[in-house]
Amino acid sequence: MKPNTYHITTFGCQMNERDSETLAGLLEQLGYAKNQTRQEAQIILLNTCSIRDNADKRFFGTLGQLKRLKQNQPDRLVAVCGCMMQQDRIVETLKKKYPWVDLVFGTQNIDEFPELLHQAATQAKILIQTYEDRSDIVEGLPASRRYPFKAYINIMFGCDNFCTYCIVPYTRGREKSRSPEAILDEARRLADDGTKEIMLLGQNVNSYKGSGGVSFAALIRQLEEVAGIERIRFMTSHPKDLSTELIEAFRRPKALCPHIHLPVQSGSTAVLARMNRRYSRDQYLELVDRLRQANPEISLTTDIIVGFPGETEEDFQDTLSLIEQVRFSSAFTFIYSPREGTPAAGMDEQISEAVKHERFDRLVDLVNHISITENQKQVGKTVSVLVEGPSKTDNSLWSGRTPEHRLVNFRSLERPQSLSPAADLSGQIVRVRVSAANTFSLNGEAVSP
Ligand code: 5AD
Ligand code: SF4
Repeated sequence: MKPNTYHITTFGCQMNERDSETLAGLLEQLGYAKNQTRQEAQIILLNTCSIRDNADKRFFGTLGQLKRLKQNQPDRLVAVCGCMMQQDRIVETLKKKYPWVDLVFGTQNIDEFPELLHQAATQAKILIQTYEDRSDIVEGLPASRRYPFKAYINIMFGCDNFCTYCIVPYTRGREKSRSPEAILDEARRLADDGTKEIMLLGQNVNSYKGSGGVSFAALIRQLEEVAGIERIRFMTSHPKDLSTELIEAFRRPKALCPHIHLPVQSGSTAVLARMNRRYSRDQYLELVDRLRQANPEISLTTDIIVGFPGETEEDFQDTLSLIEQVRFSSAFTFIYSPREGTPAAGMDEQISEAVKHERFDRLVDLVNHISITENQKQVGKTVSVLVEGPSKTDNSLWSGRTPEHRLVNFRSLERPQSLSPAADLSGQIVRVRVSAANTFSLNGEAVSP
């Protein structure tokens, strides 16, 4: 074990990734250095997620592996945080079966982490600090980020929508928006440090309400004025709150990227009603039309759930036909899994595992088929790519994303292997000619600007 080092494992969404950046920043302020391996770290932190199927099993499995590390070196500190800790039954299991864990804290206690660490290190029994739906937002916390050229910015926290399948409103609490001034300040500081791309984060950014009545679209317009910020993205949008003002922002975007992640969840109006999504299939399709009228280049991505309670073969066909009609660039696909405490978990007509899997396979086949056909339309075009670094699959290539969020792996005279600082393209925006299409990515060659 290396003293004064930490390791964080992050499960789940971008919100959790952003929380982990803050937790890492706080640890670094305390003098801890990041360690690449969990085995060697003095502080081991698991930042958990409850959305996924089998989340509990995976979490307790990982925790089980840590027991020996903790027993062999008791001056290690094992801490667990994130959405799962907001569920009472998880905390009860931790107390009963994993009393050797040092610290348990919730999604609303991140700013207290340094104090909690200190307390946990000085007390013998498990320290638990969870749910309390706070109304304040703590500003000015540090962040240790993965890339210097792109950054997440939280604009709001929590969710008030209560989709009947979803645990998030129970684990992340009520919606709270940050002030536009704090967001703009953070963007300006990031731009001064060389950040080119910002991703605005919230469970439902469309219902952002800044002090003084600033809407989400108005916030984007203000951020577009920040010098140095070349790309603005956001995650996630709820179709019911997508405003005309935001659709219009895509008409003549400056830094706003022509991409929207707009989770549809199902193509059946009856299923959408039982999910409490508060829009119909036709209303969703109308939004898509209006977005494309505003900006024909816009790329659309989505989330889809199959096997929601009561979903008939006909409902599922409605989902397939909606996908055919919209032609998403890509989609995250989920098999419905009951989350304890949500209304859908108690609904009659749960779908059998066999039917869910069979529908899931058909769904993935269609989504992938459309992704590759849409990608093929990009071949021959020249696109601008914000380079993230060497490609993960072939390190003779560079990898990055277009404004539409398409992943591009490309060849350039500056080879990633040489990695002399002068040849490092990471963080640069490079013009690339697309030469081939795959399901999840494009290939190409850099062209002179
Ligand atoms: N079962 C399956 N998928 C779910 N999601 C959220 N809750 C569940 C669940 N209980 C999916 C939704 C959401 C994405 C982040 O996770 O599609 O948009
Ligand atoms: Fe969950 Fe619905 Fe809120 Fe998204 S909008 S976090 S799916 S409750």
